[in-house]
Amino acid sequence: MEIKITLNKNLKPKPDENTLVFGQTFTNHMFVMDYNEENGWHNAQILPYGNIQLDPASMILHYGQEVFEGMKAYRSEQGNIMLFRPEKNFERLNTSNDRLCIPKLDEEFCLEALIKLLELDKDWVPHLPGTSLYIRPFIIATQKGLGVHPAKEYKFLIICCPVGSYYKEGLNPVKIYVEDEYVRAVKGGTGFIKSGGNYAASLKGQEKAEKMNYSQVLWLDGKERKYIEEVGAMNVFFKIDGKVVTPSLEGSILPGITRRSTIELLKSWNIPVEERKISIDELITAYNENKLEEAFGTGTAAVISPIGEFNYQNKVMVVNNNQIGELSQKLYDTLTGIQWGKLKDNFGWVKKLDF
Ligand code: PLP
Ligand code: COI
Repeated sequence: MEIKITLNKNLKPKPDENTLVFGQTFTNHMFVMDYNEENGWHNAQILPYGNIQLDPASMILHYGQEVFEGMKAYRSEQGNIMLFRPEKNFERLNTSNDRLCIPKLDEEFCLEALIKLLELDKDWVPHLPGTSLYIRPFIIATQKGLGVHPAKEYKFLIICCPVGSYYKEGLNPVKIYVEDEYVRAVKGGTGFIKSGGNYAASLKGQEKAEKMNYSQVLWLDGKERKYIEEVGAMNVFFKIDGKVVTPSLEGSILPGITRRSTIELLKSWNIPVEERKISIDELITAYNENKLEEAFGTGTAAVISPIGEFNYQNKVMVVNNNQIGELSQKLYDTLTGIQWGKLKDNFGWVKKLDF
């Protein structure tokens, strides 16, 4: 499909790379494509970044039929721009589409469209260490109507913003509140996809955590509040007595691409890693027996984020003296090394763009 390009004539200045705030400043262009029953996905365009028009009765505004992705473009020391496993994001976008009855996209075309958009806004991929261009593909139901049905019209957009670290702490350990009242997702629901509703459901717990000076929530399972699921914007790993453990994918947590890459890295280093159910009680026992050696989150926005403290029912557990653990640091260095092109990519994860 041809992509029609309308260049932005009012180019914005780029923000100072030293003070980037996550998700606040957007580049000069965006990708937009429409869906209707007659034409399927059509009308692919790159437009100046700007407002979109919606009928007030658009289904997205009422029933939240929306999916999204989060990925990044990185600038290497040589000045190249690189993507990290981008095909995995578009594959997951289609998984999300399927769960919310949204028509599937052509994954290869999405990547092509993204690359075209990046070519136009390439100067916005920042240069400073630790910075990148965050990419947000998303789909909304635009059909007008208040009946609860899958919509017959959609818009797919890609917007991009230069970012520094997601947490104000940077790579320093974050404090996590273990939520035992509210839940984020249940098996059979939508926890395994990226959809706005999951995040809306998480806000109450997040607000509670922030009031207590915690960065994010660690969610427990929706049925028994017993098993550990994931953190607000990242998957979670623990190093217990020399072994790495992460919750298995049982249908209620997001199958993170950073999670998968972390497991593959650990395996390549011959570090035992178990994907299984892990209860909060097991974590407390490990802590009490001094066997909880490290904890960290993984995510596109969060990268590898060491966890320095958990609070569960007012029991405070400080992990590794609130210091960055050796394994967390090694994973961070390796993953970012591959993403920024400083280390050899033996896994074939990086897609180098030729502009
Ligand atoms: N879990 C949640 C709820 C997330 O929002 C994210 C971020 O995308 C992740 C996990 C990590 O997923 P990924 O590594 O694919 O970014
Ligand atoms: C990401 O890492 O891409 C996320 O989705 C986190 C986000 C909700 C800011």
